[in-house]
Amino acid sequence: MFNIHFRVSLIIFASALLLYNTNGADSSTKISNGYRLISIQESPDGGFVGYLQVKQKNIIYGPDIPLLQLYVKHETDGRLRVHITDADEQRWEVPYNLLPRAQPPNIKPIYRSRKRPTVTSEYSNTELIFSYTTDPFGFAVTRKSNRETLFNSSGPFNSLVFKNQYLEISTQLPKEASIYGLGENTQPNGIKLKPKDPYTLYATDIPACNLNTDLYGSHPVYMDLRNVGQLAKAHAVLLLNSNGMDVVYTGTSLTYKVIGGVLDFYFFAGPTPLAVVDQYTEFVGRPAAMPYWSLGFHQSRWGYRNLSEVETTVESYKKARIPLDVIWNDDDTMDSYKDFTLNNVAYPHKKLLAFLEKLHSQGMKYIVLIDPGISVNSTYDVFQRGLANDVFIKYHGKPYLAQVWPGAVYFPDFLNPKTVSWWGDEIKRFHELIPVDGLWIDMNEASNFCSGLCTIPEGKKCPSEAGPRWDCCLDCTNLTGTRWDNPPYKINASGMVEALGFKTIATSVRHYNGVLEYDAHSLYGFSQAMATHKALKGIQGKRPFILTRSTFVGSGHYAAHWTGDNNATWEDLRYSISTILNFGIFGVPMVGSDICGFYPAPTEELCNRWIELGAFYPFSRDHANYYSPKQELYQWKSVAESARNALGLRYKLLPYLYTLTYEAHISGAPIARPLFFSFPQCTICNELSTQFLLGSSLMVSPVLEPNKTKVNAFFPPGTWYNMFDMSHAIVLQEGQYVSLDAPLHVINVHVYQNAIIPMQQGGLTSKEARKTPFSLVVTFPAGATNSKASGNLFIDEDELPDMGLGNGFSTYIDFHATVSKGKAKLWSHVKGPKFALDKDWIIEKVTVLGLNGVGGTFGVEVDDVAVDVSSVVITTGNNDRNSGNVTRKSMMIE
Ligand code: NOJ
Repeated sequence: MFNIHFRVSLIIFASALLLYNTNGADSSTKISNGYRLISIQESPDGGFVGYLQVKQKNIIYGPDIPLLQLYVKHETDGRLRVHITDADEQRWEVPYNLLPRAQPPNIKPIYRSRKRPTVTSEYSNTELIFSYTTDPFGFAVTRKSNRETLFNSSGPFNSLVFKNQYLEISTQLPKEASIYGLGENTQPNGIKLKPKDPYTLYATDIPACNLNTDLYGSHPVYMDLRNVGQLAKAHAVLLLNSNGMDVVYTGTSLTYKVIGGVLDFYFFAGPTPLAVVDQYTEFVGRPAAMPYWSLGFHQSRWGYRNLSEVETTVESYKKARIPLDVIWNDDDTMDSYKDFTLNNVAYPHKKLLAFLEKLHSQGMKYIVLIDPGISVNSTYDVFQRGLANDVFIKYHGKPYLAQVWPGAVYFPDFLNPKTVSWWGDEIKRFHELIPVDGLWIDMNEASNFCSGLCTIPEGKKCPSEAGPRWDCCLDCTNLTGTRWDNPPYKINASGMVEALGFKTIATSVRHYNGVLEYDAHSLYGFSQAMATHKALKGIQGKRPFILTRSTFVGSGHYAAHWTGDNNATWEDLRYSISTILNFGIFGVPMVGSDICGFYPAPTEELCNRWIELGAFYPFSRDHANYYSPKQELYQWKSVAESARNALGLRYKLLPYLYTLTYEAHISGAPIARPLFFSFPQCTICNELSTQFLLGSSLMVSPVLEPNKTKVNAFFPPGTWYNMFDMSHAIVLQEGQYVSLDAPLHVINVHVYQNAIIPMQQGGLTSKEARKTPFSLVVTFPAGATNSKASGNLFIDEDELPDMGLGNGFSTYIDFHATVSKGKAKLWSHVKGPKFALDKDWIIEKVTVLGLNGVGGTFGVEVDDVAVDVSSVVITTGNNDRNSGNVTRKSMMIE
């Protein structure tokens, strides 16, 4: 064993935009006759401003807006913006203060002077070219390096339609484009968009077990991956718009049909999938820093009826020797479903505090749920303070009445700064009552059990004791007559069963500054996550952990997400992978699904397979419905064994996973990734939705069907080593499917060649695991005589709000290894030494895989000095370990 002491070792035309006029052919649609570009000129910020005049008015879905303003700007080398809005009237836009880099277009009144369009002008930045046709107006975005058209609204699909409540624009797409994203949506056909599947975006409380429909969040962004010759290139397109929309994908075109706001497009040049998420999250906000413990296993359920049930759960995990970091309570701790209260009978305050003290002393954590609806109840302080601070959304000047679990509620308006302060104050008070370690914000689409305009019924109990709590018990009149609830174009939302405001906040309700719910609807959960993040950061002085159900563009900057109410079925087990991978692309990498299924009841076999997969979700939590039988992992002997096995490996991999959360935080890189992130040329990988990667090198191949003891898994070419036995290798010249043994307790996890994976020894909590010695797994291609490997490790004081280098409490290490001329070498480059030097970290074991023929000459150097390593294991990748021969080992740290 040896100690490793880590030490630190349009003015700018010249660059930007290519702009030229290609005067396309006339085209018309039934809904609109399109627009003509009547002027265009440079803007002082290096962009362009143009004006578009409607060609011939049309009144389907409302009259066309006569004059539009176009603004085009290369905002960075990899990001191009195209913004189109009404030239005369201010329209709703996603508020610029919600995203770190969003800016209003830099437009001045002088641009209204009619300057004829330039016929051919070329402006470009390093990678993207913007071009247009004047009559009818259409635009294209082209990749400069290969002249490939990425987006093209001109030509046969030319369809710019701009009405008050209907916007439409299409792009042509080549057949070889693989499209991903556009959620939240459960996609039974896998991660790659399929022609004719509906993609409707509107935040809705529709359980995740519903397929191809608008679910809890809205992410109008897609990644487009193209295999061009030997090269694969990726880019992404974001339509920054919070209104409801249908996106129609045909395989050769994509059409947005949006019911409000503006067309505010951002093109992210890539060209790799990782570069795309880097550029995207730079714009929408980097994923939130996550505390180390959040990577541990989480147990939750709705219906822990009292504290002793919770205590028993924690104890039973220990007894079964299954790792557990976090125990969760649903609304069961609340007094009559009221946020920030405690049911002192089921959860006696003193006992709860004693329980938390014990839990915390063991390094474990506790999280509870809150809902946005605040019970309307004159004896409820939280409500009274809310009223006094005027924090609720309103209809005609009065708080809007809705119903959720407590009965009648008002919804806080998180777009109002006063609400943010009040919410922060309530969280602070609550934290003084119960020192929770994180918050779970649920039902924030927002979910309402009633629709329309409601009043509290006189003389009746609400909720009534007879029916379920989710039966609407208020007296309501619907608002289907308004142009907001019943817009001229009806998106395909489940909420449109009756009207857009069905079972949510009525669309004509007003937020701060008169903002209509119709426009801001899908921002509700996002704005609540922002307010909650601010509150937790303020009071705890720690890295906040928030789990949110409803998300929008940028939510990953504040919160983790789970995929909502899934079914305990084999299908939902499978679908969870695509949704999780999509959220990685959306910049919300900390994501998981309810392990074993939310309802109705998993079979033992399903729960076995689900924990085997769920142990490798970025966010790993078992959660169940109130009416479901208990499904904690220790409930079945067989599940406990699978859990010990799979979570055992997860806990050993925590240093690797934590390093991935750091990389996500600084570059948006998803923790769980589709295979095409590492193998973009592999066309099979473009569709693969039954396997995934953790980082760039670990591949998880779960069993997703009943009665199987084998899994047919795809392996891209190269050498893959089994992570459990660290020896069995799969060596392939070409990518192919391989049938792997997968008896009930086995999940297949393989590590790819050329990687260095930092690990520790595991434990029953992440705190315990973190104290154990490190080991490194170094992988070379089988039989390598000349090859390289690399990997990273990030370690820090993991509960500090800031996750980064340079604060004196963190270290980032690049590990490198080479093998050449019969000699292998391993060294590291360390950034941020002070922190690690204080800690006495130890690397106890280095396992080198693939060195067939190198035998015992493997040399490890530390600071150029030979150090004796008691345990260097060298294997050929063919199951014949030869650790005995190693004589000289050391490790060099640069
Ligand atoms: C709905 C959530 O999706 C679910 O996870 C939770 O258990 C219930 N609300 C009750 O709070």
